[in-house]
Amino acid sequence: MSTSNPVSPVNPYDQFVQSSQKITEKPAPITKVNKIYYFSGTGNSLLVARKLASRLSKPWADKDPKSGADMVVLETQLVPIVSALHVPPSDEKISCLGLVLPVYMSNPPHIVLDFIAKMPKADYVFVVLTCGMMVGDALYKVQSAIDKTKNRMNAGYVIPLISNFIVLPKTKSDKKVDASFSKIDDKINFICKNVETGFFHMDKQTTPFLTKPINWAAFDTMYEKVPELDKKFTVNDSCTSCGTCVNVCPVDNIDLKDGKPEWNHRCEMCFACINWCPESAINWTKFTEKKKRYQCRGMTPTDLILK
Ligand SMILES: Cc1cc2nc3c(=O)[nH]c(=O)nc-3n(C[C@H](O)[C@H](O)[C@H](O)COP(=O)(O)O)c2cc1C
Ligand code: SF4
Ligand code: SF4
Repeated sequence: MSTSNPVSPVNPYDQFVQSSQKITEKPAPITKVNKIYYFSGTGNSLLVARKLASRLSKPWADKDPKSGADMVVLETQLVPIVSALHVPPSDEKISCLGLVLPVYMSNPPHIVLDFIAKMPKADYVFVVLTCGMMVGDALYKVQSAIDKTKNRMNAGYVIPLISNFIVLPKTKSDKKVDASFSKIDDKINFICKNVETGFFHMDKQTTPFLTKPINWAAFDTMYEKVPELDKKFTVNDSCTSCGTCVNVCPVDNIDLKDGKPEWNHRCEMCFACINWCPESAINWTKFTEKKKRYQCRGMTPTDLILK
């Protein structure tokens, strides 16, 4: 009598059950939530924020190293900072948080600093500044504000575009505007690759060494007075009482009184009102008279009113 155990043939049904058990045991995909918060007066920062949100909404094919689960980003939400400030803090887990903002007098806008203080916690935080040509130490100021919170800034970038501070610059030619905007997409790709790989990065600061102390002294003094700098706005007889200035103001700082705008001294100096007025009826000191107004190409007041 043979003592050897014959090898039992594999039952195809058992095989099917085993393999389907394997499938059901696979960890469920993890959904990552990304948020891009932005502040914008004339659309430069909004344009950059939209491009980032669109690029970062593509699903990631990453695997979670611990569980092996597929990590999927379903969407990246684009949130105006002016709206986010009115939402109570939540425990929502954010994978990647982007902040996109303009530079004012070598500083971040005051309202962005207010937001940073109550910003939700995120695994990876990156900051993108849009500016004219001189970022000063605005990026460092954003970083030190973030350092005072539970978040850390993992990456910081500067995208020089066109200045909407029409007091100073000469109007740029269409060629120069094209040249500035043609570089955006490459920079967006660079930023998004760093986001996807979780890389640390800090753009170099560009202010010339000798002008730094003067710029900082002059700008910082003016920056402290920002909320009341709207006392220098005037309106001329071309005003048609259309209300655009009231609607584009991100902080509701303008009322129409007898059909003309009045400023209420809680200004952010975003220059939306002066640049979007269809009649160029608003001025800020005599230095804006006869200057061409600036709006980011492809943007309308409606884009900025969506708060
Ligand atoms: C009051 C004010 C101050 C500004 N100061 C600077 C500055 O110090 N350096 C700079 O490069 N650009 C400066 N700018 C230009 C803006 O940073 C730049 O045009 C920005 O892209 C505008 O963004 P937005 O279109 O999203 O509002 C200033 C603009 C304003 C209105
Ligand atoms: S946007 Fe210009 S025209 Fe319209 S109400 Fe304001 S100042 Fe007057
Ligand atoms: S009053 Fe004008 S410059 Fe000041 S925050 Fe409103 S839109 Fe911007």
